[in-house]
Amino acid sequence: MADQARLCVTNQKGGVGKTTVAINLAGALNDRGREVLFVDLDPQGNATEGLGFVDAYDEDPPTILDALLDPEGVAVEELIRDHPEMDVLPSSIDMTAAEATLLQEPDGEAKLATLLDSAASSYDYVVVDCPPQLGMLTDNALYAARNLVVPALAESTSKRALELLYDYVAALEDEHGVRIDTRALVINRIETTGEARSMVEWFEDAMEDVPTAKVRKRVALQRAFSARRSIFAVDEDVDMREEFAELATMIDEEFSRTEVIA
Ligand SMILES: Nc1ncnc2c1ncn2[C@@H]1O[C@H](COP(=O)(O)OP(=O)(O)OP(=O)(O)O)[C@@H](O)[C@H]1O
Ligand SMILES: [Mg+2]
Repeated sequence: MADQARLCVTNQKGGVGKTTVAINLAGALNDRGREVLFVDLDPQGNATEGLGFVDAYDEDPPTILDALLDPEGVAVEELIRDHPEMDVLPSSIDMTAAEATLLQEPDGEAKLATLLDSAASSYDYVVVDCPPQLGMLTDNALYAARNLVVPALAESTSKRALELLYDYVAALEDEHGVRIDTRALVINRIETTGEARSMVEWFEDAMEDVPTAKVRKRVALQRAFSARRSIFAVDEDVDMREEFAELATMIDEEFSRTEVIA
């Protein structure tokens, strides 16, 4: 791979599996031999905790927020933590003030792009986990990544969530003159119900051009999270590994072919 690809894992709807998908997609890319930087842009810090860096979340400044506000003034490398599968730029308790602070900044939506341009060139992939909200942090992730991975539950409420998300993305594209491509839809936490089945069909129809992964409801995903790793780094045999491996392959092939830079 010649260039770096950046992926923004987002859906403003809460609890749909953004963090789970982001961690396991990062694990799958690592399993393919890719160098991955994981960025936790969510003030909740779930991924930071789930990758084992809850201490970083509570650490004194400088934090990821300082790095966003002043990429040249903060040594980002010193904030990055080593996980066996990936490097991690952890979230921080300070990020609870990020929305309001970034709104006051000129080019407030371009901060993450600047940070990654200056500090993350050695990675094949940057995977950004977003908060459950459309605002300045998600704008930063979208603007920096230009590539979208959308987790969504196989429930009817997902229709409206996707409508809102795509209206929002279109407005951001217009406002900044950029193009943001959806690289994958991940239908997540699929159960064996009629509603789930018909929603999977709806997704396949509504987003037929988008590569789609189907992830079933599996406690093994929660167990891996509690073990602070992706399902690619646990001893147990997890059937969803194949699904995430395929997702990583699809994404990897897409970027190898087009050599798109973020
Ligand atoms: N495929 C799955 N099977 C079983 N449990 C899952 C699956 N995907 C996610 N979960 C669980 O659902 C909950 C929500 O998932 P997750 O935290 O990844 O969602 P999120 O979109 O990041 O949430 P938030 O909007 O708060 O950031 C977690 O407890 C997670 O372990
Ligand atoms: Mg999350």
